[in-house]
Amino acid sequence: MQLTTTRTKVAIIGSGPSGLLLGQLLTNAGIDNIIVDRVDRKYILERIRAGVLEEGAVALLDEAGAGKRMHKEGLLHDGIALAFSGHTHRIDLHALTNGKRVMVYGQTELTRDLMDLREASGATTIYNAENVLPNDFSEEKPYVTYDKDGISHRIDCDFIAGCDGYHGVCRSSVPSHAITSYERVYPFGWLGILVEKPPVSHELIYARHQRGFALCSMRSNTRSRYYIQVPLDDKVEDWSDEAFWRELKNRLPEQAHENLQTGASFEKSIAPLRSFVAEPMRFGKLFLAGDAAHIVPPTGAKGLNLAASDIRYLFDAMRDFYLDKSDAGLDAYSSRALLRIWKAERFSWWMTSLMHVFPDSSPFDQKMCQAELEYLVSSEAASTSLAENYVGLPY
Ligand code: APR
Ligand code: PHB
Repeated sequence: MQLTTTRTKVAIIGSGPSGLLLGQLLTNAGIDNIIVDRVDRKYILERIRAGVLEEGAVALLDEAGAGKRMHKEGLLHDGIALAFSGHTHRIDLHALTNGKRVMVYGQTELTRDLMDLREASGATTIYNAENVLPNDFSEEKPYVTYDKDGISHRIDCDFIAGCDGYHGVCRSSVPSHAITSYERVYPFGWLGILVEKPPVSHELIYARHQRGFALCSMRSNTRSRYYIQVPLDDKVEDWSDEAFWRELKNRLPEQAHENLQTGASFEKSIAPLRSFVAEPMRFGKLFLAGDAAHIVPPTGAKGLNLAASDIRYLFDAMRDFYLDKSDAGLDAYSSRALLRIWKAERFSWWMTSLMHVFPDSSPFDQKMCQAELEYLVSSEAASTSLAENYVGLPY
């Protein structure tokens, strides 16, 4: 097979939010980079994911120059609601965190903005690359190889950024003795739908009911996203829209039914829930970031926000290396990132455990959840702890 060779400073594997954000920050700083992804732009933009951004993520997108449409179309939220035992309780995020808010803006739109920006900047992205592989990252001269259109390609580089998600090739290329994984798989999934109807409430509602968890979210003032907890072996085909709406109503307090506008869904899928962390996040010249290194269950909407904080640390470290000739940020990257990741893992696990009904939970366990929810909404200390985690811990 024919072989071509190019050179760049940073070869980024994966064109999701992590890879795109890192690529844009590097490009803006004049640091040459190439992104390689195994699928194409259209495929990436068809993935439906969460859409709640912490202020740190918003600031980083602004710094990258990708925030324009987000500020125009995104929705700023000052609170969330917790629903249980037939009532809804508002958690005033803004008041409890000295004025912080979250931005509701879909990951799909954010990815589109970053892709458009990259295209406009002229930086190289290779889509539909086959057999992508990080090579020699434990040595001085790493390189990435891939095949495309019957030609083998090699990218020589200083660093490889493994931004290739949970199923990517970077983490799995690390010898097993050099990496430790921590994992919890939850015994249920989330069935989610998108519908072209105004949201039931202008803020998100997280509901716990004895039949299971439900979440009312949104993508805009006219497009809603709803989820219900389902058994892991349920199939999307088994859930008609009608059955979904019936079950959602069952799990929401009656006062929410009135404003619930139902209709035909245009997307419906089931996602499993998992907590996962791989340590460390650096292997010589290979740096993992985002879903490639960690997964959270979606209950606290931390996945994308953790990807953003990883990229904050990784970009700063690479900039210091190239512009100030300092290795300190690169050396500290893994431990700095993991410190924040584990706190978000804890929060996501806690919120998942509190809001879901586990198949093996005893009447005592149920009472504990009930008592904790009552405490959460009646104690300012407890509400503050939820609020400060939800809006995002400092970087
Ligand atoms: N070779 C090349 N590219 C790959 C490979 C591979 N072997 N495997 C995966 N990829 C690409 C995928 O096609 C995808 O475009 O890497 C990209 C990874 O993107 P994401 O999965 O979106 O991961 P990340 O950018 O870290 O985004 C984190 O996504 O899942 C959510 O909760 C998560 O919101 C968070 C965000
Ligand atoms: C979503 O809108 O998809 C969403 C919002 C909040 C979450 C999870 C998902 O906690």
